[in-house]
Amino acid sequence: MFVLPLALFTVLLPFSHAQQVGSLEKEVHPKLQWSKCTTPGDPSSCQTINGEITLDSNFRWLHRANGYTDCFHDNRWNNYSLGCNSTRDCTENCALEGVDFTYSQRWNQNIYGLKMTNSSMSMRLVTKIDFGTQIGSKFYLLEDRHNYQMFTLLGNELSFDVDLSTVGCGVNAALRFVAMEQDGGLKRYPGNNAGAEYGTGYCDSKCTRTERFVGGEANYDGWKQVNESDWSSPYQGESRACCPEMAVWNSNAHSYQISSHLCPQKEYVACKDRSCDYYIPYSDDEDRLPRCDRVGCGYNPFQMGNRDFYGKGKILDTSRNFTVVTRFEQDRVNQFFLQDGKKIEPPKPKWDELKDTTNGISQDMCTKRADGFGESDFWNKNQGWKGHLELMKTPMVLAVSIDDDDFEWNLFLDSVWPPDQEHEKEVVPGVWRGDCPWQDNEPNYVYNNVPYSTVVWSNLRFGPIGSTIKV
Ligand SMILES: *[C@@H]1O[C@H](CO)[C@@H](O)[C@H](O)[C@H]1NC(C)=O
Ligand SMILES: *[C@@H]1O[C@H](CO)[C@@H](O)[C@H](O)[C@H]1NC(C)=O
Ligand SMILES: *[C@@H]1O[C@H](CO)[C@@H](O)[C@H](O)[C@H]1NC(C)=O
Repeated sequence: MFVLPLALFTVLLPFSHAQQVGSLEKEVHPKLQWSKCTTPGDPSSCQTINGEITLDSNFRWLHRANGYTDCFHDNRWNNYSLGCNSTRDCTENCALEGVDFTYSQRWNQNIYGLKMTNSSMSMRLVTKIDFGTQIGSKFYLLEDRHNYQMFTLLGNELSFDVDLSTVGCGVNAALRFVAMEQDGGLKRYPGNNAGAEYGTGYCDSKCTRTERFVGGEANYDGWKQVNESDWSSPYQGESRACCPEMAVWNSNAHSYQISSHLCPQKEYVACKDRSCDYYIPYSDDEDRLPRCDRVGCGYNPFQMGNRDFYGKGKILDTSRNFTVVTRFEQDRVNQFFLQDGKKIEPPKPKWDELKDTTNGISQDMCTKRADGFGESDFWNKNQGWKGHLELMKTPMVLAVSIDDDDFEWNLFLDSVWPPDQEHEKEVVPGVWRGDCPWQDNEPNYVYNNVPYSTVVWSNLRFGPIGSTIKV
């Protein structure tokens, strides 16, 4: 990749049996101020926290610990003579390199498309660098150098301001809480010597297969293209990282969705093949379910039949900044917006199938949605609202990202899903999610047409319901 060694000698590290940390560039985290609020009705009592963020480990240079050879290159494990050539070899001898963000910002290199001010972070989709191009990024909020900041959502609210005016079709600017481990798996997995400081331990309700390390081990076995006859097909391995998530904000200038995703367990689970399935002992039909519910129970006003609510020039006008407020209440996740000093509530669903239910997420909405949209409803099979409440009591990590989607083109967010329903989208409830033509979401098209897509998150505030904002 792109990090030039500053000195041309090689430090030989003592032999160690684990995924290592590189010694070529110092890890210096970008700083981000956010607010911790305490008093409902009095946002002026919020305290400024001088926090920092860290880059997700998958985006880092991974190289032979005793030198400069890439362990991972062009989306693949580099199993030529000097890279690494087995799960064990890659786990034991490869190092995640640090990134000194103060250095890069000082020299205006703007690597990873990141720009910081005191209380805002701006993330750009495509960044040209000297030796190539970077697409997308993901960062986590830290409590201190070695630990993620944990958030327990129940009874609390999160507010942030967002600028999505440039974020185009097929791009997902996302803010979510995921049940990662606070130290990134450092203590639990002897194979992990890097930890939260280096952004390790990501997991999600897709049971992601694209992590290079899972459970402290290299995801080397079976790492290959999903479709080997298509050069542009994405890569994935056999190991998967599962955990539940509360996706507060999947978005671009065309659509947004809030969604809750459950798993039978509330913590990080590393699994392979069938162990990633979950057998429900009490079900008559001996259903095997995927371990986590990747579809989730979500709310997207466009999908709910309200096509003039969100977008450029619409009621919530995405050509300008606005504030997203999300309240994690006992019986509902209640999300609303502020723009030009006005409170704007998302409309209730329009489809007959979802009549008289709530906006935001509730047991009633989730049940009606699953029936009305003919979904397999893994959310209710994972205990529905009861499971959701347990998740709301589970400390989670805050992740922000911007990315296109090589697998399913983010069609779930702003276009038609499943895609073969294109011609029925106006009449079949739930398949039409936004005004993006599906062709525009193809990753190469996104790359060429909206590379400048940039999300700006600012003024993150968290505290008991009513404490972060005056409405
Ligand atoms: C794997 O790499 C090591 C050196 O790192 C080498 O000794 C070994 O022969 C390689 N194995 C294969 C199967 O290429
Ligand atoms: C940014 O933070 C520093 C240190 O807390 C402070 O001195 C400065 O005034 C802040 N700048 C702005 C624009 O708020
Ligand atoms: C959003 O707010 C920031 C800071 O106030 C400003 O620089 C930016 O231009 C605004 N974006 C839009 C689309 O108005």
